[in-house]
Amino acid sequence: MKTRIIGTGSCLPENVVTNDDLSKIMDTSDEWISSRTGIRERHLAKEETTASMSTEAARRALENAGVTAKEIDLIILGTVTADHVTPSCACEVQAALGADRAVAFDINAACSGFMFALNIANAYLQAGFYKTALVLGAETLSKIMDWNDRSTCVLFGDGAGAVVVRADENSGLLAFDQGSDGSRGGVLACENRTNNNPLVDTSKDLAYIQMDGQEVYKFAVTAVPSSLQKTIVAAGLTVEDIDYFALHQANIRILQSVAKRLHVSADKFPISLDHCGNISAASVPILLDEMNRKGMLKPGMKIAMSGFGGGLTWASAVVEW
Ligand code: COA
Repeated sequence: MKTRIIGTGSCLPENVVTNDDLSKIMDTSDEWISSRTGIRERHLAKEETTASMSTEAARRALENAGVTAKEIDLIILGTVTADHVTPSCACEVQAALGADRAVAFDINAACSGFMFALNIANAYLQAGFYKTALVLGAETLSKIMDWNDRSTCVLFGDGAGAVVVRADENSGLLAFDQGSDGSRGGVLACENRTNNNPLVDTSKDLAYIQMDGQEVYKFAVTAVPSSLQKTIVAAGLTVEDIDYFALHQANIRILQSVAKRLHVSADKFPISLDHCGNISAASVPILLDEMNRKGMLKPGMKIAMSGFGGGLTWASAVVEW
């Protein structure tokens, strides 16, 4: 039995903010941002929330799969920017969809969140506990950006992506790899609420995302090719067998470097970061949905996916479409 992706959906906030728009409110330029990252614009939420975008992405994925909300057994949502500490965003999506049979929970693996969620869903389906699952990655990263730090805030965007997966006898997920290195977690970090009990000094400010860009870059260009190689071999395939590499959309230079290290043409690495920026856990499912709706994904194709980022964490999977 395999875990097959049978539908995709995504949702981006209405507001588009270009690099030129940013250059009007901070000391930056389209030239600096686009030449170092490939990002030209991003969508930033105004009215939208992590839950509202997730719900819309889920509706579109269900429609694409031809599955009703009542058929969903499981909802797993990767995010670091849920609207509430509790209830989880997955429970909010469950309620909004009326998916009352489903068990729903969030997971935090930062930019690997969707891939970790997919692998968890795969484990449940393989074990025979559930048949149909909704797997999401969703973020409103703009609320945890330090808008006075031009080296981070220009990189990220908001949005949500979703897939419907179902246990299938023929095609589906062939192999996966995942890993974590908490000892290097400080290179990409964001404080949560601080302790304000009467025993603690509460003078500390709420902090936003802080990143050592060069360390994260070095991590990505070594961990990702190695994880992809392992997964492809575990799937009984070679790099040449892979039709597309649907990777987390952090930076065009990371994608080009991974392509080079795998000796694969960069044309096999579709991009959405030019119009989305980095949307952490939402990047991979949004990219998959764009590929699916453009008709790029045909039955039998082999797609390698990979997410990587805060934690540090990384995760890859190879699926037969
Ligand atoms: N606009 C203009 N100048 C900027 C800028 C911006 N938005 N952000 C930083 N700069 C300046 C810096 O202040 C620095 O100026 P200085 O030399 O006068 O001190 C200069 O540009 C170079 O900064 P640096 O941080 O060394 O740039 P870089 O070449 O390392 O590129 C990143 C920065 C973030 C693009 C790059 O490190 C990167 O892509 N890292 C990976 C990050 C990532 O993908 N994270 C998410 C993973 S999930």
